[in-house]
Amino acid sequence: MPTVVSGIRSTGNLHLGNYFGAVKNFIEMQNEHSTYFFIADFHSLTTHPTPADLHINVKQVMAEYLACGIDPEKATIFVQSDVPEIPELYLLLNMNAYLGELERTTSFKDKARQQPDNVNAGLLTYPVLMAADIIIHKANLVPVGKDQEQNLEMARTFARRFNRMYNVETFPIPRPYTFEGKDMVKIPGLDGSGKMGKSEGNAIALAESPESIRKKVMRAVTDAGPTEDNQQKPEVIKNLFTLMEVVSTPDTVAHFETTYNNCSIRYGDLKKQLAEDIIIFTTPIRTKIEEIVKDQEYLSKVARIGAEKARASASKTLQEVREIIGFRKFY
Ligand code: TYM
Repeated sequence: MPTVVSGIRSTGNLHLGNYFGAVKNFIEMQNEHSTYFFIADFHSLTTHPTPADLHINVKQVMAEYLACGIDPEKATIFVQSDVPEIPELYLLLNMNAYLGELERTTSFKDKARQQPDNVNAGLLTYPVLMAADIIIHKANLVPVGKDQEQNLEMARTFARRFNRMYNVETFPIPRPYTFEGKDMVKIPGLDGSGKMGKSEGNAIALAESPESIRKKVMRAVTDAGPTEDNQQKPEVIKNLFTLMEVVSTPDTVAHFETTYNNCSIRYGDLKKQLAEDIIIFTTPIRTKIEEIVKDQEYLSKVARIGAEKARASASKTLQEVREIIGFRKFY
């Protein structure tokens, strides 16, 4: 049975990008795979959250995961910092991760640009920690969005490197999981930028109120409208259509495609429809989030059971790795 590992940083609320990029396909896999879903709170430290924020965010993200349909009876859902085997494997992998390859990753370069006063070593070695997250459970598949493609490629490199160095087959080489051979998902932002993201400030959260969703969508960037039939869509308009494709019915999408192609489209109508369809999609999840967040007892039970299951799997791999490297007890 293939093993699946997926994670999310606890730096803010889950948004539509997270859902369609990584959570949706995970939910579909929890029935027939051995699945691990975790909240990457170590990773969140690169932005230096306050202790209070860190704590609240972890619980919130766990509640949001559960509200999306992750079933703790089927999947192992856990908090990264509950599994000390992960940072130990990270340390070991760091010895064979090279400055040049780490500096070249686009996510490092982006972050170094976004937070020039805080280019810490954790940012540089972020892909190594991510690799440890994945291979500690000997994952075969990793459901991630397009933005994580390069980080996953690095995880594959580190897994391969370890196997080659020690002439073992300890780690399977993890693959990104995509639907039906489709490309990896990239949900765009509403500001005309390429990607919806927490740090980009252009995201619609699953927990967002309908009023706020309407406001954000109505403010989305558009252009002056098409002037020729069947004209190519500029990026900002393509983005709105991409969002529509994930939340609206095919009929709705087809209707606006037609009106775009014959130049009768009114962007105001498109945005209104898009906002309502997002609200229809998020409302049941939002209601569930509100319910689960209130149930602290349930959340702590899920976290405790998840930590136990995750540690059992992680410590087995780590023991094997320690032995291979040469850390053998002589007392
Ligand atoms: P994070 O927290 O930024 O995002 C979590 C997941 O959501 C996906 N995602 C998107 N997919 C499509 N379109 C978008 N606009 C979009 N925004 C986010 C991400 O690709 C990701 O799958 N480094 C990871 C967390 C992580 C992890 C791991 C993931 C740590 N260790 C091990 C998988 C396996 C991150 O920052 O994701």
